[in-house]
Amino acid sequence: MNYSVIPEPREMQTGTKTLFTLTRLCNISSEAGCEKAEACLKKFLSDAFSLELLGTGKESVILRIDGTMQKSESYILTVKENEVQIIGSDEAGVFYGVQSIRQLLFQGNLELPEVYINDGPRFPYRGFMLDCGRYFFTKEAVFVFLEMMALHKLNTFHWHLSEDQGFRAQIMSKLLLTEIGSYRSHTNFNKRKHEGYYTVEDMKEIVEYAHRLCIKVIPEIDTPGHTVAMIAAYPELSCFDRDLTVATHWGVKHDVLCVGKESTFTFMQEVIDELLETFTDGAFHLGGDEVPVTRWRLCPHCRKRMKEEGLKNEGGLHTYYLDRMARYLKSKGTEPIMWNDSIKELMVSKDVTWQLWSDDMDKKDVVSEINAGRPFIMSNLRAYYLDLPYAQVSLKKTYEFEPVYEDIKKEKEHLVKGVEACLWTEFVPTMQKAGYCTYPRLGAFCETAWSPREKKSYKSFLSKLPPYYSLLKGYGTDPASLSQANPGPVSKAGNLIWWERRKLCWAGLSNLIDNAYVKKTYGKK
Ligand code: ACM
Ligand code: ZN
Repeated sequence: MNYSVIPEPREMQTGTKTLFTLTRLCNISSEAGCEKAEACLKKFLSDAFSLELLGTGKESVILRIDGTMQKSESYILTVKENEVQIIGSDEAGVFYGVQSIRQLLFQGNLELPEVYINDGPRFPYRGFMLDCGRYFFTKEAVFVFLEMMALHKLNTFHWHLSEDQGFRAQIMSKLLLTEIGSYRSHTNFNKRKHEGYYTVEDMKEIVEYAHRLCIKVIPEIDTPGHTVAMIAAYPELSCFDRDLTVATHWGVKHDVLCVGKESTFTFMQEVIDELLETFTDGAFHLGGDEVPVTRWRLCPHCRKRMKEEGLKNEGGLHTYYLDRMARYLKSKGTEPIMWNDSIKELMVSKDVTWQLWSDDMDKKDVVSEINAGRPFIMSNLRAYYLDLPYAQVSLKKTYEFEPVYEDIKKEKEHLVKGVEACLWTEFVPTMQKAGYCTYPRLGAFCETAWSPREKKSYKSFLSKLPPYYSLLKGYGTDPASLSQANPGPVSKAGNLIWWERRKLCWAGLSNLIDNAYVKKTYGKK
């Protein structure tokens, strides 16, 4: 049989004859620093094969770290007679060696041929984002995502914790954020309520779980837009202290944080201070996307701020807010990240990382920002938005997307820190739908995140899908079939009709009426 690994390793050779069989007698011998890798391997053997090792036989798995290896997160895996050896550059390297051996053991039903793999990542940032704001996913569901991330050699969990439709992170000094903000009376799908939030203990547990899988966690509290749930809890956060309920439907809302009031900054800094006690990985996502300025135009606080700060338009106010929050994070030793459309005026300090998602930012502008020194994470929606129908983002499209644009200067390429796949959930209410959206696209995505560019081949990726599907199903996920993931013209058309129908659910009419009311009430003052 042909053994294969996803993501494709830098270098891999396999023999044909079985040389090693992992039995109950096998012994794992691991050095200090290899505890996470060892625990992961043991859990896999127990979960997938009900195998608890006795360690009395002559076969062994050796895990060790060689600090002289050049690149971080790298490993060399060899299988010889009676011995599997994984040597990592560091803790994560050994851990990723274990991810590869898991796939091989799964394929061979615990039997392995001679193997040599020399491997390491293309990008240091390999992310997956889960939107828990629209739909709440239980702690156990988040664990499943983290396990699957590790299997795909992804190392950064971007946790989108707040939305118009729900605020999910318990903040002890502002309990109404979750007591009011985590509940919506109904959703796009039906008249049933939806609710849920993570306690501080839950969040700590999730961070610890992620760390055991060599995954960093970056929380996102998306401001100043996408904040209706926060405003429902604390109306004074908005312009005109609006009395709102948590949004029931998708879409970009007019009510955003009032960034004229100084109290908004104090509030957000306190939220950040609390979260940084739980999220210790040194980065925080400020959001910043999709901010209509309709309220700011009318609000006396916002107008005063613009005048005092010499900002020439509301775009400048948007930038002012984010720049100030970014500086606050930096003062705490934490790296700020924001979505690319957060910036109306291209002036936020060049050392702030932008996450590119929208295709309305011109490629030329992206290239010139990178060439001018700004770090980027690439999440282009046309390739890496996992909630988009396969009719728009097919498996092939995800696979073939190249995130390092031509015209980026060679010496600036390192500023493309990596890539991130995003699972937005307004139309993903269940783990079953999440599985359908995420897999097999995550397999295609991780080959860009991890494998050397010159080793990528869609044809050879397709040939690896049968064992990949077995693995996914072995983990209880529900992937899209290959024909669903690369739809033909007929199902593509059907899918696009579904997508257009989805836009009708934006509650656009009530938004328009409410907006007219605000203009009429406050516009003349
Ligand atoms: C986004 O999709 N609004 C970041
Ligand atoms: Zn205001």
